[in-house]
Amino acid sequence: MTPLYEGKAKRLWATEDPNVLRMEFKDDATAFNGEKKAQFENKGRLNNAISTLIYGFLEKEGVPTHFVRQIDERNVEVKKVDILMVEVIVRNLAAGSFSKRTGVEEGKVFSQPIVEYSIKSDALGDPLVNDDYIRELGLATPEELAFLRASALKVNGILSDFFAKCGLKLVDFKLEFGRLAEDPATIVLADEISPDGCRLWDLKTGEKMDKDRFRRDLGGVMEAYEEVLQRVKEATA
Ligand code: TMP
Ligand code: ASP
Repeated sequence: MTPLYEGKAKRLWATEDPNVLRMEFKDDATAFNGEKKAQFENKGRLNNAISTLIYGFLEKEGVPTHFVRQIDERNVEVKKVDILMVEVIVRNLAAGSFSKRTGVEEGKVFSQPIVEYSIKSDALGDPLVNDDYIRELGLATPEELAFLRASALKVNGILSDFFAKCGLKLVDFKLEFGRLAEDPATIVLADEISPDGCRLWDLKTGEKMDKDRFRRDLGGVMEAYEEVLQRVKEATA
């Protein structure tokens, strides 16, 4: 069997239901658009467990998502979607590429969250784009983009409170959305929500508990993910 799609951290497989796919979490880690690569034993299992709990929580909070059910440690069932080629990033504090681009020190708290967009393309290096680019590139209509922005801010509110209960500061994160295969007028949250695509800092110590540990060679990558899982489990129990 060959997957329908293989990305850097996941594979998508067909199921008997044409509107449902199996999403498999791999142990591969990449950074800087795939330039830096490694494998971490258990990463797929940990991200699947974290993402499944967070998706369940978001659904309970009324956020429509692609999530159907967890199959096993490595796999979930998701609704088939046509992924929008625009990534939506929300930032509560300065970090990462924001700090690099602006010279603002990491950790500065924004008065309101920043929402930004990039094209989902490793070949182009996920370039930052604005509303006009997205309209002219046909990545989303202005109405769809307004929906993405509002949804991302809603998710930010829910997850900021949720991670605070976990003793973690939600610094920033990336979301992806897709049009349902069975109803393309409906856009839902897709992809995973895990320490791969969120910056999470320990509220007490400020310690980084996310993929920056890999990006910056800080060590203890899986130990941090395991700790995030334990705290997410407690917060959802
Ligand atoms: P950045 O500061 O590197 O732009 O990243 C912002 C957030 O988005 C951070 O939490 C990591 C996440 N992210 C991804 O999940 N995938 C990506 O390709 C990039 C560039 C960032
Ligand atoms: N997700 C991107 C990559 O894997 C960038 C990153 O997360 O740093 O290359």
